[in-house]
Amino acid sequence: MTEVGIDAIEIRTGNLRLDLPNTFAPQKGEDPEKYTKGLGLTGSSFPDSYEDIVTMAANASHRLMERKGLEPEDIGRIDVATESAFDNSKPVSTYVAGCLEQVYEGDFHHANKGERKFACIAGTQSLDDAYNWIRAGRNRGKAAIVIATDTALYARDDPGEATQGAGAVAMLIDEDPDLVSLSVEQGYGSADETDFLKPNQQFPSVDGKRSVQVYLARMREALEDYKSVAGAIHPDDFAYGPFHTPFPGMVRKAAVLAYRNLIRDTDIADVLAEEIGEQPRRDDFADDDAFFDALTEYTDALSGTERYQDWYGATIEPTLGIAREVGNWYTGSVHVARISALRHAAANDIDLAGQRLLVGSYGSGAQAEIHTETVQENWREEIEALNVDEQLDRRYELTFSEYEEIHDAHNHEMDTEVEELTTPESEFVFDGWGRMGERK
Ligand code: HMG
Repeated sequence: MTEVGIDAIEIRTGNLRLDLPNTFAPQKGEDPEKYTKGLGLTGSSFPDSYEDIVTMAANASHRLMERKGLEPEDIGRIDVATESAFDNSKPVSTYVAGCLEQVYEGDFHHANKGERKFACIAGTQSLDDAYNWIRAGRNRGKAAIVIATDTALYARDDPGEATQGAGAVAMLIDEDPDLVSLSVEQGYGSADETDFLKPNQQFPSVDGKRSVQVYLARMREALEDYKSVAGAIHPDDFAYGPFHTPFPGMVRKAAVLAYRNLIRDTDIADVLAEEIGEQPRRDDFADDDAFFDALTEYTDALSGTERYQDWYGATIEPTLGIAREVGNWYTGSVHVARISALRHAAANDIDLAGQRLLVGSYGSGAQAEIHTETVQENWREEIEALNVDEQLDRRYELTFSEYEEIHDAHNHEMDTEVEELTTPESEFVFDGWGRMGERK
């Protein structure tokens, strides 16, 4: 069977940066280490006043097409995943195609375009849609562009404010991919939840503490479900585990639960039993409370073991590099985590071809999905072609008052206009309705 997966990938960050320990923390009267150590964040990406989900998506897609030498006729499908859409009728992909048509001779009249919504997991769902379309043989030899693009903004003084971010990830999905192929098997954990909502509002209503618990519960279910279709998996089978990263501290919590789940009934659990005891099982306890207390105690002990720390350091920590600097990109977040991991391997001369990734996607509302990916022969060339460092380094450093102004300007409910803080160079910019995505 032909492999299908991600052939190439590009990112586009918002052009502004907010420094959390030095600019944000003093204004909020918080210890900077709450952000750097607690949440695991040093900066967030923000869109300048001429940027939005369309321009970031179009800029990422344009670089992707240029780098891969593609013309519109090579693309049969453009899907956008976002939870920051501004149009309840036209999908964002039509706006993106409109931008790209300014710079190519051909057009996308033949391409199927759509928009996916399920909070942050929609990026992975769009990836799945493109995968299924190709595997079903409906693609007529063409590739798909899947874009995850969001401006992840919270109301000011909401606890989520520190986790904001803005950026787009564009992925080329094709047969015989150069970067990673996707597993057929998937595991799901899905339930109707109300901890993170945007009912006709731009900024979310969030029960932050509960959202952490819901993330962990759905991830646990998805892992169980994955194992029920793919069979037992061993944590050492994976080179990296890119997970949805609203902030790195969340992944720190998810990783130890995933490890606990994966080692159950393996040689690792046997080895660790001598050090921290057996993993508690529900049948051994009179009630749920006693069982959960024992499980929490076991998990705390597990997180302190050298075995776990080594696994975390090698498999999870490298996925968090970019997130620490850009914050939450919602739909793009898990795909940024994959890029971080592959960049880590390239920088450390690790030969990844043929190795596997354990990918954990999550979206509030809520659903988690687990699948695995196999790294392809040409992965290094693809990853080394990215200009992530250049994009991150050239961001403009916001003062706190500039941050407040730009935050107001991106609040659709306010009528605030601000000067551009950076100068667009050869990129698509938002210049008002009717001039969306004009090429500058
Ligand atoms: P908070 O309540 O202000 O923070 O916001 P906190 O008091 O819980 O502190 C955060 C961590 O920093 C804690 O670590 C503290 O101990 C630590 P933990 O105990 O959890 O390991 N800390 C410090 N560490 C070192 N030095 C210090 C210090 N002070 C504190 N001085 C909260 C946290 C998550 C509630 C907030 O960020 C929030 O509401 N975020 C938005 C919601 C969110 O991201 N939820 C994550 C799961 S849901 C999800 O991922 C989906 C999402 O992406 C949306 C979608 O799918 O569309 C959000």
